[in-house]
Amino acid sequence: MSNIWIKKPLSAYEADIKKSGLKKILGKWSLTAIGVGAIIGGGIFVLTGTGAYYNAGPALALSFVIAGIACIFAALCYAEFASILPVEGSAYAYAYGTVGEIFAWGLGWCLILEYAMASMAVSVSWSGYFTKFLKMFGIHLPDYLTSDPVSYTGEGFAMNLPAFIIVLLVTALLVKGTKEAAKTNNFIVILKTSAVVFVVIVGAFYVVPENWIPFIPEQTMIKQTSGEMAPAYGFQGIISGAAAIFFAYIGFDAVSTQAGEAINPKKDVPFAIITSLLICTALYIMVSLVLTGMMHYSDFDPLGKYPEAIKAPVAYAFEIAGKHWASNIVTIAATVGLISVVMVMMMGQSRIFIGMSKDGLIPKFFGELHPTTKTPYKGIILLGLIVATVSALTPISTLAHMTSFGTLFAFTMVCIAVWIMRKRQPNIERPFKVPAYKLIVILGVIINIGLILTLDKLALLLSGFWLVLGIIVYFAYSKRNSKLNNP
Ligand code: ALA
Repeated sequence: MSNIWIKKPLSAYEADIKKSGLKKILGKWSLTAIGVGAIIGGGIFVLTGTGAYYNAGPALALSFVIAGIACIFAALCYAEFASILPVEGSAYAYAYGTVGEIFAWGLGWCLILEYAMASMAVSVSWSGYFTKFLKMFGIHLPDYLTSDPVSYTGEGFAMNLPAFIIVLLVTALLVKGTKEAAKTNNFIVILKTSAVVFVVIVGAFYVVPENWIPFIPEQTMIKQTSGEMAPAYGFQGIISGAAAIFFAYIGFDAVSTQAGEAINPKKDVPFAIITSLLICTALYIMVSLVLTGMMHYSDFDPLGKYPEAIKAPVAYAFEIAGKHWASNIVTIAATVGLISVVMVMMMGQSRIFIGMSKDGLIPKFFGELHPTTKTPYKGIILLGLIVATVSALTPISTLAHMTSFGTLFAFTMVCIAVWIMRKRQPNIERPFKVPAYKLIVILGVIINIGLILTLDKLALLLSGFWLVLGIIVYFAYSKRNSKLNNP
């Protein structure tokens, strides 16, 4: 009789770590770079304009503080687990070792939603900056080749060709090997982080302090892209802003999916998770202050004076200030930088496949390593084809909200799992411990669930379907093939 609450014994994880075919090549700063590389992306370069105009106004900086706090709680919990179980399945593996199989399956299923959707959303953001990049050279791609068919306002066929192509290129790089990918990533992360620092330092000279007044605009109704009216600004705007820009923080957990390749995972993975998150939180708060100081939040209105500004807000803020050179630098850095986010997200996804396929919960196909490059090439190629196709055909907003759903849900589960683990296995060695864990877990759960509830209704509905589908797949396939349940 199989047991859906069966737990994977910790000794089995140790055996997995030992026999893992992945090369151990990542040090603590490479891991931190993977974190920063995954975090800084479409969120800060694209969603800041949306968050300022539709949600919080200049108080967007406070939305970043709230979302950052939600992430810190989850990051501390991730770090504790990563120090106990430095394996590549991330939160999925933690849940399998503590709560039980069906819970772990649910988490793994949410992580697939998070990583796959995030790589789609970021490749679509990349396409926006790439299109602007080409314009710098006088090349104009036709709308039907840069829009998904849902948002496209013209007649006939449309697809987001740049998004499609970038995903295929990243897939090829990932198949080639993690070391090559990590090297490219380090370079891109330096470039992208420098661009963000550049925005803060150079942008500060063009801040007009009057744009920050009032810092928390009075609550009012704003027409959304869907045509509906929704409340914006005020306290509520700060909270809904936090959910809207939450996507910008996603990625620090990608570090935990790389544990299998870390040289000293028990120490370096917790370090990298927390360090990368802190670096990005500080940068985001400064960027949002500079951005709303350079441009009045109402100027991001897509039907107003600068209709294009909301698509590439950071670059346009400089352009509108008359600093074309700075706008070009931001455009180039964002175009290059967003590639690394697509890469890290897909890399994280493939590592979750490895974890789940080792346990027999998904077919072996997903976790099979290439004999020489040691990458799970079959899973990566299949994932690449799906991500490329969906990116080419789907609007970004739903993708971003669904990514947030998958992540917030996973964060909540990880927080709960820390508590369960402390109760069940109080004496296990924990190189990193969450301080005041009960308080952190409770606050983490409240804030993450609170943010889920403010997400777009359509995204909540689609994510609900995804969860139901997960349960069906679990009973139809995973439970029957689980190695623990069928030794
Ligand atoms: N945090 C990542 C981004 O903003 C997903 O693109």
